[in-house]
Amino acid sequence: MSLAQQSAEIFRRRYRREAEAVAIAPGRANLLGEHVDYNDGVVLPAAIARGVAVAAARREDGLVAIHAADLDDDVLFRIKDTAARTNAAGGKIAGWALYPAGVAHVIASRGAETSGIEAVVTSDLPSGAGLSSSAALEVAFARVWRALGTWAPTDLELALACVETERTYVGVECGVMDQVASACGRVGFVLDLDCRSLEHTTLALPSASRVVVADTGVRRELAVSAYNTRRAECAEAVKRLSAVLPNVEALRDVSGDDLDRHAAVLTPTLLRRARHVVDECARVQRGVEALARGRVEDLGTLMVACHESLRTLYEVSCPELDAMVEAACNISGCYGARLTGAGFGGSVVALVSREALDAGFAAQLARRYAAATGRNGNVFACV
Ligand code: GLA
Repeated sequence: MSLAQQSAEIFRRRYRREAEAVAIAPGRANLLGEHVDYNDGVVLPAAIARGVAVAAARREDGLVAIHAADLDDDVLFRIKDTAARTNAAGGKIAGWALYPAGVAHVIASRGAETSGIEAVVTSDLPSGAGLSSSAALEVAFARVWRALGTWAPTDLELALACVETERTYVGVECGVMDQVASACGRVGFVLDLDCRSLEHTTLALPSASRVVVADTGVRRELAVSAYNTRRAECAEAVKRLSAVLPNVEALRDVSGDDLDRHAAVLTPTLLRRARHVVDECARVQRGVEALARGRVEDLGTLMVACHESLRTLYEVSCPELDAMVEAACNISGCYGARLTGAGFGGSVVALVSREALDAGFAAQLARRYAAATGRNGNVFACV
């Protein structure tokens, strides 16, 4: 049974009626362009065939009742109380429920009519694993409200409403990549997304290659504050560089030569952060060429260089992510691997040959990771 069917079935049993709308939204694995979206650069995420499904039907009383089937948890709130973040019992809306509440709040703040709903949400994405489970949750609920109310955004507008939710309601100063990948990505393709113009096209993955995701199982409590710190460091680097380079509005506008010439205006930390972003923008450009030519080995090499840069310059890796990347790269048939998403724990994305996958790459990687770290990872191939 598909995830959508599961959510519809649980809905039927729980509420004794049929759902009026069932929406799904995928997670994503980013192949190249990490910590680049909020620097206005180009990113290459792939929507994956794992995600979030929501089955829902309208309620006339303005209440939103959601059952999170995987967590066996429930929330009940009124749309008009989402601004105050209070639930129907007068307590605080918190945790996973902030995402649907935030989406309802953002849609309502745009003047659209959002009806009360009862809903069931299910997911087969590990949460906090760097695979955009929160963006998928936002996009799935936004799709439900699009289907059941007067709000009629395009997929891109819907994604941007979800970005606003994450920034203003949840408090993560994220870029646009995850929500756009979830709302506009196509399974089986890589999205070539320009985070400044928001123009996007799809690129086919070479047919001989497969994407494997390997969750280290590591979650870091401070990930959100560390992420927001990186963002602030990039903004500070832009402020200092634009004083000497007037056309610079984001790190995307800075070349490697610019950075060499004006390194003195940055502190050593800011220079490392800027260097990662500038180099990564160049890697994405080469990655797009590699994809266009079907040169999967070149893409893999760029992914390995990206991980090294995230580890040493952007400093968002951890020993378990490094161990997973090393284990993956040592298995024959692996073109490259790197941490994907924000980092600070979470997952590695690996690009491998079809033969390697058929020969048991995933099981082998899980074994090697366990031997190196004593931890159980969760390794799976994705479409
Ligand atoms: C998180 C954010 C994205 C992006 C990545 C890092 O996933 O939500 O906007 O910044 O980290 O590339």
